[in-house]
Amino acid sequence: MTALRTCVFPCAGFGTRFFPATKVIPKEMLPLVDKPILQYGIEEALGSGLDKLIVVMSKGKDAILDHFDRTAELERSLQERKKNDLLSEVETVSTMADLISVRQKEALGLGHAVLQAKDAVGNEPFAVVLPDDVILANEPCLLQMRRVFEETGRPVIALMEVSAAETTRYGIVAGNMLGNRRFHITDMVEKPKVNPPSHYAIIGRYILPPDVFPLLEKTERGAGGEIQLTDALRELVRTGDFYGYVFEGKRYDAGEKLGYLKATVDYALRHPAVGSEFRTYLQSLFGNDVPKNRQN
Ligand code: G1P
Repeated sequence: MTALRTCVFPCAGFGTRFFPATKVIPKEMLPLVDKPILQYGIEEALGSGLDKLIVVMSKGKDAILDHFDRTAELERSLQERKKNDLLSEVETVSTMADLISVRQKEALGLGHAVLQAKDAVGNEPFAVVLPDDVILANEPCLLQMRRVFEETGRPVIALMEVSAAETTRYGIVAGNMLGNRRFHITDMVEKPKVNPPSHYAIIGRYILPPDVFPLLEKTERGAGGEIQLTDALRELVRTGDFYGYVFEGKRYDAGEKLGYLKATVDYALRHPAVGSEFRTYLQSLFGNDVPKNRQN
């Protein structure tokens, strides 16, 4: 089995759920405390041993590449002013990843976005991280999933249990729970309007074989008039075992206002520089029961 080293980040969406903030600024660049949302996903991939990182971009998203690029002038100025802490923070970001960028020229959906990475991925298994889905976990979510992939050699996607009312907002899987957080998937459906096959929702982490690309090429427009990744995966399920993994951790939808606010609060409370003062502030608003360590 070829080792897993590649991760694809679809970053081409308009960010309409966050207008007007994302009219010009890519939604992936909105900060959660002091790092852009995408950086959390990049750090998760690196922390899971993946170092070939591909971003699928559209017009107006160049700030993403700039963020992870060197900024010689800024670094020189910080050096001259002996701002060593800031310098090391800037250097860490500029050197953490060499991103490969590919373009999605038309907003035709997630499946189409992933297909644009076909040549850059090559004939190897790869992960997909949807940057909006930020996951706070003791162990990176992709690393948790990677173990299942390495043991089975089969596709693995992240799952989370949701309420009956929420099933219309996600890809929902059919199949049975095997235990040990593993789920054997027999089918899946994108945003079912009625009769969801389970309460297990697909969350934006996937480990897939390159065989998914020819399936994506054949996938027609589905839910919302878009080429859906879920529809191609549905075909992949028919070719052999396919696993879900109910990850340990808390997931936020940072691509919409309320989810973003929740993530901001939880990440701020855990932040080494501002966490303790932020907690004191929240306590001044709500009383003393702001817990020390918010996860789950
Ligand atoms: C995408 C996927 C969906 C998944 C969701 C998780 O939908 O198509 O299957 O449940 O991400 O965030 P989107 O939220 O991009 O519409």
